[in-house]
Parts: sequence; structure tokens; C-alpha cells
Amino acid sequence: MDDTVIDREFAEAVREGLHQRPRRLSSRYFYDARGDRLFQRIMASPEYYPTDCEREILRERGPEIARAIVAGGVFELVELGAGDGSKMGHLLDALHAEGTAFVYRPLDISPHVLDLLAERLCPQRPWLDMQPWAGNYMDWLAQPRRPGVRRVFAFMGSNLGNFEPPADRDFLREIRDSMSADDLLLIGLDLKKSPEVIRAAYDDEGGVTAKFNLNLLRRINRELGADFDLDGFSHRPEYDPDTGAALSYLCSEREQRVRIDALGETFAFVQGECIRTEISQKYDDALIAELAAAAGFEVTADFRDRRGWFTDQLWRPIGPG
Ligand code: AVJ
Repeated sequence: MDDTVIDREFAEAVREGLHQRPRRLSSRYFYDARGDRLFQRIMASPEYYPTDCEREILRERGPEIARAIVAGGVFELVELGAGDGSKMGHLLDALHAEGTAFVYRPLDISPHVLDLLAERLCPQRPWLDMQPWAGNYMDWLAQPRRPGVRRVFAFMGSNLGNFEPPADRDFLREIRDSMSADDLLLIGLDLKKSPEVIRAAYDDEGGVTAKFNLNLLRRINRELGADFDLDGFSHRPEYDPDTGAALSYLCSEREQRVRIDALGETFAFVQGECIRTEISQKYDDALIAELAAAAGFEVTADFRDRRGWFTDQLWRPIGPG
């Protein structure tokens, strides 16, 4: 263990997940420094289409999205999870072109990612009032609002798809409950499409997604003093076109035991036993309508790429509250 302080929350999540049947580990722990770099490489891989689709939408439809946002009056743009700067730049430019000043506030758990985002966005945009905030979204949401300033939330990249239902609607509901009537949510959702396209996106030829998935075990080894044999587990992506769930697993190649010092426990794996590490939900109109309604939103605008593979939508809060 190279860290003097053990992240107990991480340790407990690993303990719980490995005792569950089927076993699970949360994809939120993919993103250490190495995981961040691997995710950058995934986004640059030819098979991983969502980033390109969303970049196309924000480039081509940015002005329309910006007009819809600006129409409501003074706002700040609060991005939940710092995105890929190259995508968001198009929207920021389109908002700037509308001639209104606004604060861009990317929130992320990782200060490192926020630094990268600032490096990417700020140099060519002297007008950009970027006020990043590192920490938990919910902690920021609990802060008092700036009077007279609408909050426009951006939750891009189909990050919602990583929430295991019903945590997806619970999360949206929490955002909804923090919103005023004239606030907006801009949400990016990856759509159902040919299963071959989706399967390839999570199983790239270059093997970057496999490394990204296995990095979770590497992280457990380093931070929790475990002895996972990285050659003893393999990346196994699955896609179910009925449900739209793209699932990633790490499967044990053989019978083996893994010791985790920080937990004081040893875990036995039989050959072929899998740990589910990620869900990346793919949506269709019916799923989206159901989700929006359950969380207290109405879809007010829908922007898709030319292939119709991805959507960026504007959602408005409805109902009581
Ligand atoms: C950033 C969560 C949207 O689920 O598609 C990419 C992460 N995982 N390849 C996704 C990811 C494997 C990605 N999200």
C-alpha cells in the first residue's frame, strides 16, 4: 500500500461489492490518475463513438442550444462532472456569441481533471469566467443560490448511464429538487443502435477499454494492498439490446484466491466467476420519457447527431417543488 491513508469509503465499497452475489465493483472507482488517462484514450479510439457524436451535436446545434438557454435570462452553467473540454468549448463559444455574460462552473470529484479542463478551455477564451469546484455534486448543490441567477445544469456524455437503476432516477430527482422553475438541465444520453456498434465501443481493438476496466484491480492492489493477478482476470463486455444495458465484467480465468490487506480478507474466485464493474445504459424515446417523468422533468428540446446515435436534450422541471 503506497498510500499512508487508506480511503475507507473505497475499502468498504470493495468489501461490500465482493461479498455480493453476483459480485460488483463500482465504475466510479475507475477514475484515478491512470484511469483518467485511459479514459482520454478511449475517447480518442475509433470505436468509441459517443464523444464524437456529442461533439458534433454541440458544434452543429450549439447556437440553437445556446439560444434556448439564454432565452430564460441570467444564468450560470453548472457542469456535473467535468467533461471533455473539446466538446464543451463549442457550447461555451455559442453561449458567448449570444452576448450574455455567464459563469461556467464545472464540478468534479477530481481536482486533476478540473486543472486539465482549464488548460484546455481557458487559453483561447479570455472572456471565459470559469469557476471550477472540486468535490461532491451534492455538497455544491446544498450551497445557497446566487439570487436572480438561474442554474443551467449540464450532465453530458451519457454519464447518467453509469447509474444502476433506480439510482439513475434518484440522482435526477435530487437535481430536480434543487432546481427552481426556470432552471434547466442539459443532458446527454447515448441511444440504442446496432448492437455491433455498441459492443465494439466497449471492446476496442487497441485494448484500451480492457486496460481501463482492469485498472480497477490495479488500483485495489495499490491502494488497498491487494494481490489481484491482472493476467488472471479478463475484460468481458456484454450488450443486451432488449434492455439497452451495456455491461462490463472482469472474469476470473481460473480458480484463485485474492488477499486484500486493507480488509484483512481473502476472496476465493472459481474459474469463470465474474465481477460486474460497469453499466452504460443505452436509451430510447420510451426509456427517456419514463425517466424524465419519474424524476419530475419535461423534455423541451432534443438535439441529435446526423446518425441519430446520441441525443443532447433540454429538460425543464415540472410538478410540485
Ligand atoms: C464516461 C461513463 C459515459 O459508460 O460509455 C467508456 C465510460 N466505460 N468505456 C461510458 C466508459 C468504458 C463512459 N462514460
